[in-house]
Amino acid sequence: MDSRLIVALDVPRIADAEALAARLDGAVSWFKLGLQLFPLGAMDVSARLRAKGKKTFLDWKLHDIPKTVERATRSIAEAGGDFLTIHAEPDIMRAAVQGKADDPDLKLLAVTVLTSYDDAMLTEMGYAYTARDLVFRRIEQALEAGMDGMIISPLEATEARKRFGDDFLIVTPGVRPAGSAVGDQKRVATPGDAMRMGADYVVVGRPVAEAADPVAAANAINAEIAEALSN
Ligand code: C5P
Repeated sequence: MDSRLIVALDVPRIADAEALAARLDGAVSWFKLGLQLFPLGAMDVSARLRAKGKKTFLDWKLHDIPKTVERATRSIAEAGGDFLTIHAEPDIMRAAVQGKADDPDLKLLAVTVLTSYDDAMLTEMGYAYTARDLVFRRIEQALEAGMDGMIISPLEATEARKRFGDDFLIVTPGVRPAGSAVGDQKRVATPGDAMRMGADYVVVGRPVAEAADPVAAANAINAEIAEALSN
């Protein structure tokens, strides 16, 4: 089974998430759990999925004072997960790296700039960077802090690889198989193009979860990824 596809379990209830994961069992090995389900018990879902040999991406997007982020990262490492997101501010990332300590499984991914921000919003918040320049500044800072990788758009992956090399993970949302609804995503690429542009993993939510046949949708994405990786 190809393991470069991460399916986002963006559903309202734990039972729905477990049903979708069970349905996708033969086709998908990675699942993303996010803020919508953490208050309802998503860390237990993570533990159950991992006990079945699945990998989990815990999209906590941690952002707090360094000591709290360090302790939260330690708790999450103890509970168990494979990817964890942290907002890409240098002291916060360094704290997360401390908190992870020598956990062998957990990889820390930096959330560079939320895609909901544009240049005008960053100016309003007091940043002297465009969104794109801030993404690359934060990639550099994430690598300096000892993070394992980043969440970026596929459209930034080529330049990230060119400037910073291959020795870190690139995980990209904003992925849409050709012909599927773009929805609210603005800067999208197909799964195959995302891999060709330098991604290691793609996160796909609605095109799988809302497909009439989620297993067929996931298998089509797996085939596209396998084809891109074989060239
Ligand atoms: O349904 P869709 O494929 O758009 O879902 C993408 C997933 O990736 C969602 O869980 C969304 O919150 C997440 N995400 C994103 N864009 C980012 C960061 C995370 O779409 N920049």
